[in-house]
Amino acid sequence: MTMFIKAWMGNSLVGELGHHADENLFSFHYQPPWTDVGYALSPTLPLARPPEVSNERHSADVRNFFQNLLPEGKALDDAASAYRVSKSNLAGLLHALGRESAGALVFTSETASPNDHDDRKPRPLSAEELSERIKARPAHPFTVWDGRVRLSIAGYQDKLAVLQCGDEWFLPETMRHSSTHILKPEPVNRRLAGMTTNELMCMLLARSVGVKAASVRLVHVPEPVLVVERFDRDIADGLDAASSADRLVVRRRQCIDGCQALGLPVDFKYEQPYGDGEDVKAIRDGASLQRFFQLLDNRDLMRSTGPAKLEFLRWLIFQVLIGNTDAHAKNLSFFSDANRLALAPAYDMVCGLALIDANVADHLAMAVGDNFDPRSLRAYDWALMAHECRIAPRLVSSVLAELANQCLKQLPAVCDAVLAQDGDKRMMELVSGVVQSQCEAALACAGEVMTVDRDHF
Ligand SMILES: Nc1ncnc2c1ncn2[C@@H]1O[C@H](COP(=O)(O)OP(=O)(O)OP(=O)(O)O)[C@@H](O)[C@H]1O
Ligand SMILES: [Mg+2]
Repeated sequence: MTMFIKAWMGNSLVGELGHHADENLFSFHYQPPWTDVGYALSPTLPLARPPEVSNERHSADVRNFFQNLLPEGKALDDAASAYRVSKSNLAGLLHALGRESAGALVFTSETASPNDHDDRKPRPLSAEELSERIKARPAHPFTVWDGRVRLSIAGYQDKLAVLQCGDEWFLPETMRHSSTHILKPEPVNRRLAGMTTNELMCMLLARSVGVKAASVRLVHVPEPVLVVERFDRDIADGLDAASSADRLVVRRRQCIDGCQALGLPVDFKYEQPYGDGEDVKAIRDGASLQRFFQLLDNRDLMRSTGPAKLEFLRWLIFQVLIGNTDAHAKNLSFFSDANRLALAPAYDMVCGLALIDANVADHLAMAVGDNFDPRSLRAYDWALMAHECRIAPRLVSSVLAELANQCLKQLPAVCDAVLAQDGDKRMMELVSGVVQSQCEAALACAGEVMTVDRDHF
């Protein structure tokens, strides 16, 4: 028995995903004319499969790529139970959730197409209804609306993809419509109260110091909700955005996340995929800075290498300065097209060090050198990272100093902006404290990064 799922971008058929149930193997075949005019979905799924790649290897690459599109944690459990599909049934879940994913891919069954006639209009979503649904958690899963799962993007937190038209929100009903924003309420876990303010502040600070990041704002329905603009959606020019949600033409832009770009399974998004227990912490096969810099250095895969490496270096130093302990490979994305990969704006940036009392990890997702502790990074760690990732220690030193100075300078204005959006003052002060001490530590060691003796490595 084989189940086939079609993968589309706009009206173009990209390829066919097959699940060969008897052998439990997956396959993906690009279809003409995509094979001539299209591009590879990821480095591990080239347009033409090299003869030396076995069926088993190909199947693992296919599974890894497509599994990375699915929600995680409770959202995955809810999706699986809403559609009565096992949560390990990749093809079944893609079929159920595939109306809209991160990037431009949509999925249909073998016999359907995104052009199939469907004249349903986007479904309005009022602030009152949103507030009711936020309060009804966890008894009523946040991602299931009108019996259908409305979330088909990765991640653990509750969120909802909506189409914003003027100042109104809608839930897309058909493949003709597409979401433009992601709504993130506070987590149900009260120990994480203030999370929306935390993320708002980190995102605003990034933008104010020149780290490209998605645009965000905090609204109150009256529960706080972070409204994140999707960078993988563009509203077509020349249309009056306020006219009608049904007529709004939204272009989807293909992107892939860091795990997909590195060819890793979803559970390798942290460098220590088996955790940091004494007996397994030395296993560092997951996503790492070294792997990312290697990818960014590859001219066959990247649109530009030098500028991309600098942009990534700025991204990673910023994560350390804000104490983001969850900057894993799925919290980084790449735009993808026939002209190869380019880094997408930053998103999901949270000061984890402000949340360690709530049991949030206090160690980095990816080590700097050999050090996973963001609070004890020294010149040696940065120099070892520069050495392993083949970047100039001088560059690391100057970006560290520049971004740390900029963060300290911009922090007061960012706090004002957070308060103007009615952010949580307690969380704002906690995040401020972390950013200040991380920046001071960075400034104290930045100058020494170039002078670390290479013989130590
Ligand atoms: N602004 C954006 N534009 C486009 N895609 C985005 C944007 N923000 C997030 N995404 C996509 O949605 C996914 C989930 O979003 P996000 O990382 O914010 O959720 P999360 O549940 O907080 O994640 P985590 O499990 O890391 O805590 C991301 O992995 C990314 O693929
Ligand atoms: Mg995330």
